[in-house]
Amino acid sequence: MTTWTADEMGPRLGEPLDDLETPVLLADIDAMEENIREYAAVAEEHDVALRSHVKTHKNAELAALENDLTGGAGVCCQTLGEVETMARNGIDDIYLSYQVVGESKLDRLCWLDGKVDALATTVDSVATVEMLADAADRNDCTLNAVLEVDMGLNRTGVAPADAPDLAQSVADAEGVVFDGILAYDAHVKGEASTEAEFEEAAWAAMDLAQSVVDDIEAAGVDVPEVKVGGTATSRYSARHPVVTEINPGMYPFNDVGELELRPWEVSKADCTATVLTTVIAVPDEDRLVVDGGSKTFSLDKPQMPVPKDRDDIEYVNASEEHGWIDTSDAEASFAVGDRLEFIVPHVCTTINLHDLLVGVRDGAVADLWEVQARGKVR
Ligand SMILES: Cc1ncc(COP(=O)(O)O)c(C=O)c1O
Repeated sequence: MTTWTADEMGPRLGEPLDDLETPVLLADIDAMEENIREYAAVAEEHDVALRSHVKTHKNAELAALENDLTGGAGVCCQTLGEVETMARNGIDDIYLSYQVVGESKLDRLCWLDGKVDALATTVDSVATVEMLADAADRNDCTLNAVLEVDMGLNRTGVAPADAPDLAQSVADAEGVVFDGILAYDAHVKGEASTEAEFEEAAWAAMDLAQSVVDDIEAAGVDVPEVKVGGTATSRYSARHPVVTEINPGMYPFNDVGELELRPWEVSKADCTATVLTTVIAVPDEDRLVVDGGSKTFSLDKPQMPVPKDRDDIEYVNASEEHGWIDTSDAEASFAVGDRLEFIVPHVCTTINLHDLLVGVRDGAVADLWEVQARGKVR
């Protein structure tokens, strides 16, 4: 049996973009680094820490790059598998912004304690606090816990009015250290559609966070950290004095969702994650088909892929390996074999579909990042 090495199969460092097999997920390195520096400047201006959320790219080398460029000490993860992947690959300050439920998963968390410099997880109920304390006792370790407060997303998080009692329970729990609150503010994205509305809604959310902190501290528990924000909201929420740390994930890349949500801030040039596709069929002059469908672009949100460098064609429909492109407004004609590049609709879930993210500079492959925690949903 003949096998190919990864190097023989490509993409390879130095390979020109024109030679890459498609569909292929790309990241424009210079523009990506520019985006990272922009958020680093926001964090510096408002004197908050920037802890990047690696759920977006799931790669420890990119996490280290983010830390280098932002001065960030550590990362956020959304699954225990991501935490393990980061820890195994040299990231030693990790916050898991998710509740760990179940004995064996909690034992995995405890196993990591002491193997990294700093580790914290999330609680938002009496049940999760008790499970954490039991796990700390079972494994003879100490676990840092951040209390998630529901700021209005109605996902997870204790109700603000119940936060002081639960914070007290965390502080009192044997083997558990109260590390502050997570005040994730993504509901703002559903409330705001202009810059002024973002400013107003984010400030109102952070006022609520401030009152939660005041109530917890009035009950006698110190709140050392207030963690907030994703890519869209953190640059607004960071302005509020209550915030100590922002946790954006998509910010190196952006995507069609961010482009549509904040057109005053995000342009096509800021969208650095794209998929290069090849035209595989031109059935008629108003339509062509590319080799990227729903197994290449995640279509978990209403957005479709958007052409990176042109506005005269539209990605209108997808099946698994086919993308339907409406070319009725295009002056140009297209041929089988032409290449078309699209901004990804939702970057986190799209990267999760691929083994590799290909870093591009000057029209050639300049870096290769394995999507290391891909599939690590546990
Ligand atoms: C708790 C938490 N923090 C931060 C983020 C990162 O947000 P974004 O993907 O908007 O950058 C997420 C994303 O889902 C999240 O759930």
